[in-house]
Amino acid sequence: MTKQAHAAQMDAIYKVQRHFYDVTRRYYLLGRDRLISRLQPPPGGTVLEIACGTGRNLIAAAKAYPDARLYGLDISEEMLVSARAAVQRAGLQDRITLAKGDATDFDPQALFGVKSVDRAYISYAISMIPDWQAAIGQGVAALTPDGRLHIVDFGQQERLPRLFRKGLYAWLARFHVAARADLPQLVDRYYRMGHDVSFERLYGGYAWAAEIGARSPSA
Ligand SMILES: C[S@@+](CC[C@H](N)C(=O)[O-])C[C@H]1O[C@@H](n2cnc3c(N)ncnc32)[C@H](O)[C@@H]1O
Repeated sequence: MTKQAHAAQMDAIYKVQRHFYDVTRRYYLLGRDRLISRLQPPPGGTVLEIACGTGRNLIAAAKAYPDARLYGLDISEEMLVSARAAVQRAGLQDRITLAKGDATDFDPQALFGVKSVDRAYISYAISMIPDWQAAIGQGVAALTPDGRLHIVDFGQQERLPRLFRKGLYAWLARFHVAARADLPQLVDRYYRMGHDVSFERLYGGYAWAAEIGARSPSA
């Protein structure tokens, strides 16, 4: 699928869904607030959400870290319409900058005027991005030398009933969402390249959470 076709697909999905996205997703996009609590950017630091959707996470992060500067990009103009309105409503337009961009190919300097960020995160988006490995690569590349990329998304439902997994995956597939079974292997590849990494299975494997540092702590 071309990037244009993918962007059009996201707009088609979210044109209507964006209006009830936040109300419904709070019940099943688990681990997002945990991710935000773990960001812990340095004082006056910068935080980037890759595929920010309605801006729900960015607003929560701005409230959790009152001296941070935040940036969000998304490929869907429909989602950005909701995100801009939400940021305005929260009165955070001076601290949160939004831009249209592709997670698999973006330049923070061109989009936001910053060379790199202290924290980046991808929440429930690698499951929708065809080249999700490239999105993670771009996230790591956008970090300062002490930066960290955080990821949360659907896991493999390892400790949950098999029927639950089957039903969930079938339902997610209707929205072009696919849990990435190879995420642990990719995180391990970063570890072997010298990055400081972590990987956790949350809620019986309902969600997986990973972190990838810009480099090893001893480097
Ligand atoms: C399930 S939503 C998650 C939104 C938000 N991160 C959250 O946690 O609520 C997935 C988002 O990924 C965006 N997206 C999908 N592919 C993308 C890409 N290649 N680049 C940037 N955003 C993308 C969609 O437009 C959508 O806003």
